[in-house]
Amino acid sequence: MQPSKTPMLTRETIAQRVGELAETIARDYADKDLLLLFVLKGAMVFGSDLMRLLPGRVAVDFVRARSYTGPNSSGRVRLLYTPTAPLADRHVLLVEDILDTGRTARFLEEHLRGYQLASLRLVTLLDKPARREVELTADYVGFTIDNQFVVGYGLDYDEAYRELPAIHVLENGKTG
Ligand code: IMP
Ligand code: MG
Repeated sequence: MQPSKTPMLTRETIAQRVGELAETIARDYADKDLLLLFVLKGAMVFGSDLMRLLPGRVAVDFVRARSYTGPNSSGRVRLLYTPTAPLADRHVLLVEDILDTGRTARFLEEHLRGYQLASLRLVTLLDKPARREVELTADYVGFTIDNQFVVGYGLDYDEAYRELPAIHVLENGKTG
């Protein structure tokens, strides 16, 4: 398995869309202090591009959950790391790389509801609605994509390819 030679989403396309998302988010939170909660590890690249385009006061913290081992989700979700920032009365925006079955984001949303947040929304760079197993819609979506496994821009296949600047479909090398 290897990344497609031609990116599915080029770095320019991604940058343009992240800029649009940042504009919308900045408008929606114009009078509020925002806490971005990056869902590690996949959202680190998207999240750090997004945060640098948001004007005003933005705090960052991290959560880590795991539901994934290779191209097929196991369905289980475990929390590996929880935020250290106080969450009560904060406007929290959960930052995801991709919504697949939706189980990870759903689990995190439910977990975070226990903290008396001022508000909770979800932004995801990529959305694969065809794969959804639980009901979940993101408040902000970068790109809706087909049911393909993608890597790059933070997204991995067994921890490889996160460093690629663009997003590529993972292909069987022999047929390419
Ligand atoms: P979900 O819980 O099934 O929605 O899975 C979400 C997580 O699975 C994401 O945060 C990714 O880490 C991983 N994932 C799902 N689809 C892909 C993909 O196409 N490429 C890389 N990682 C993926
Ligand atoms: Mg992953």
